[in-house]
Amino acid sequence: MQKIFLKLAVISGFAFLLAFSNCKKTPPAEQPPAVDKPYNLVIPAGFPKPYLSDKNPLTEKGVQLGRMLYNDPILSTNGTSCSSCHRSQNSFSKPIQKFNNGYTISVMPHINLAFKNIYNWEGSAPDLDLLPLGDFEPEIFNSNEADMKAKLSAHPIYPSLFKAAFGIDNLNALSYMDLKIKISYAITQYLRTMISANSKYDRYLAKKEDLTPMEKMGMQLFFTEKGDCFHCHGGPLFTDNGFHNNGVDSVFTGFNLGYNLTTKQATDIGKFHSPTLRNIELTAPYMHDGRFATLEDVVEFYNSGVNNTKTLDAIMFKRKNVNALNLSDIEKTALVHFLKTLTDTSFLKM
Ligand code: HEC
Ligand code: HEC
Repeated sequence: MQKIFLKLAVISGFAFLLAFSNCKKTPPAEQPPAVDKPYNLVIPAGFPKPYLSDKNPLTEKGVQLGRMLYNDPILSTNGTSCSSCHRSQNSFSKPIQKFNNGYTISVMPHINLAFKNIYNWEGSAPDLDLLPLGDFEPEIFNSNEADMKAKLSAHPIYPSLFKAAFGIDNLNALSYMDLKIKISYAITQYLRTMISANSKYDRYLAKKEDLTPMEKMGMQLFFTEKGDCFHCHGGPLFTDNGFHNNGVDSVFTGFNLGYNLTTKQATDIGKFHSPTLRNIELTAPYMHDGRFATLEDVVEFYNSGVNNTKTLDAIMFKRKNVNALNLSDIEKTALVHFLKTLTDTSFLKM
């Protein structure tokens, strides 16, 4: 073993000398382009392959820049930052946001986005890299070109990070659109690194921690036909990344048309993207419009409140064509206990 090490040391020492002398004799004709070191994205065991972007590869400085911008009101003229609505203590979300078009929407969390390939409750955004462009509009950041360029280029750190991450020498020389795109790229690089896989449930799977009998009862209900949550919220991500009508409404108008707003298909009325249930304890209230204040309310909804409409998912009818679970009080409590094992507080420091 030692011998092999020695040999390796000699060979690599020799290679180093060679490289060094080569370098001295023939300096490269051109400077290499300013490409930063790739970011080493660690994928937790059992997770699927992430959706990464060819046009926006992750680099160390890109991620660092994105994290700073995400938390900084510098991009807006009204003191708002991404983190005003996507707050770390709520798994990077906020209870609800009312919009000028009359929609009241539960702010989506930022968690394991690298494993999603369609975004927003109603699936309106297919490209994560460009999704933040909408946030510069008057209703959210009310950004403007002169203000943004002046503040960013006068900042002690941002110009050097834009240079290191994207090779940009002068922020003022970029068009407004190009600058906003680079900002979006940096932020979405950071978003892709926000991976949560250290909940009590993960530690239970890794045999590092046990679940209580109540949590285990809830887990059984969740992953079997009795509670039947796993069809839409299963797998390591606790979502099937699909669109379903789980029966929250019986009349559809405005935002609760859901996926239909994106596809215009009648068969998509009332369908929403199955949200991940990781960190669900931290993101109350629940559903696309935040109609349920607590997890107990959600479980009671699945137990007895499912509305039967044309597009209701067939899974909701599993039990002898009845859209009610008929769980006992103890079973309902157990389900809530299990959902709380999906909380990962280490993730909140990302
Ligand atoms: C005023 C509140 C607000 C601010 C500020 C805000 N967002 Fe959001 N964000 C939302 C809401 C609400 C949704 C859900 C929208 C929907 O479903 O149609 C959302 C959804 C998202 C999603 C989709 C998540 C998913 O799982 O599909 C991403 C990504 C996102 N925001 C990124 C950002 C970034 C980056 C910024 C800063 C540039 C930002 N947001 C600023 C309210 C906000
Ligand atoms: C047919 C697919 C389907 C099944 C089965 C299902 N869900 Fe859901 N779930 C959804 C969809 C879709 C939403 C979002 C609906 C909305 O926002 O209106 C949702 C939302 C939720 C939410 C709120 C998430 C949030 O971020 O606000 C919780 C909690 C939840 N489900 C738990 C469960 C539990 C527990 C079960 C089993 C008893 C279950 N679900 C069964 C599809 C399903």
